[in-house]
Amino acid sequence: MNAPRTPVSAPTWWDEFTTAGSSPNTAAARLHQGNILYIENVTVSFDGFRALNELTLYIETGELRCIIGPNGAGKSTMMDVITGKTRPDRGQAWFGSQLNLLKMSEPEIAEAGIGRKFQKPTVFEHLPVFTNLELAMRAPKGVWRSLVARLSGEARDRIEEILVLVGLAEQRDMRAGALSHGQKQWLEIGMLLMQEPQLLLIDEPVAGMTHQETERTAELLVALAGQRSVVVVEHDMEFVRSIAKRVTVLHEGSVLAEGSMAQVQDDPRVRQVYLGA
Ligand SMILES: Nc1ncnc2c1ncn2[C@@H]1O[C@H](COP(=O)(O)OP(=O)(O)O)[C@@H](O)[C@H]1O
Ligand SMILES: [Mg+2]
Repeated sequence: MNAPRTPVSAPTWWDEFTTAGSSPNTAAARLHQGNILYIENVTVSFDGFRALNELTLYIETGELRCIIGPNGAGKSTMMDVITGKTRPDRGQAWFGSQLNLLKMSEPEIAEAGIGRKFQKPTVFEHLPVFTNLELAMRAPKGVWRSLVARLSGEARDRIEEILVLVGLAEQRDMRAGALSHGQKQWLEIGMLLMQEPQLLLIDEPVAGMTHQETERTAELLVALAGQRSVVVVEHDMEFVRSIAKRVTVLHEGSVLAEGSMAQVQDDPRVRQVYLGA
């Protein structure tokens, strides 16, 4: 269990690491750690109010991480920083060992392999499920997709694979607007997967889902991790308990606690601020 503002693990090269910027030594150190995401001492202020306060957080490659915390803890702001929507006042944010997220635009970050799913699904309602996935496909460099006359066999196979993965194989010809709320969420996850992200950020995936849809979503997210890294922000504690390996609790813009679900639930500070016990 870590105190607020204490790095997850603080190796001896820590000070050099956090102050040296992008020196080759630092990059080598990052690579050695096997992490896909490094957030270090990130502070974001809105009119003097600190939405993020010296936030330090690491995500391992292939990990499924759950982020919990009360409303206003800074969870969405953290995702805004990772995706380039919000620039921090200070701190560092790296994607793997090489890519400085704070120097990249939102499209560059998406192109580099970070996909974000917002709470509200944004599928093309009037188009079939299959077409939604087709449109989400990453276009070959410099080629506008509509100029590609026919879908290659490889691309078609990829869409079929994603349809099965997100559980919409039977709904492939259905208008996306006719899907249930849960199915729309899965379709949007499928659309993100078409872009082959290495890191998926998912904000409150099970809000408004039925119990069955929630269980199916848990299975899906567990299946997605490993091949890629997945960060899930979620309020539904039952859901988090069912998928969580490592949980990070945010509070007032910093990490309050991190560990297994059992560990964070037993943490008195967590109980006080979040679980209300
Ligand atoms: N654009 C903004 N302008 C002013 N305050 C903001 C803005 N975005 C977020 N905040 C504030 O920052 C804090 C953290 O918000 P947020 O990251 O959305 O928390 P969470 O997602 O954990 O509920 C909240 O107090 C919120 O009101
Ligand atoms: Mg939020």
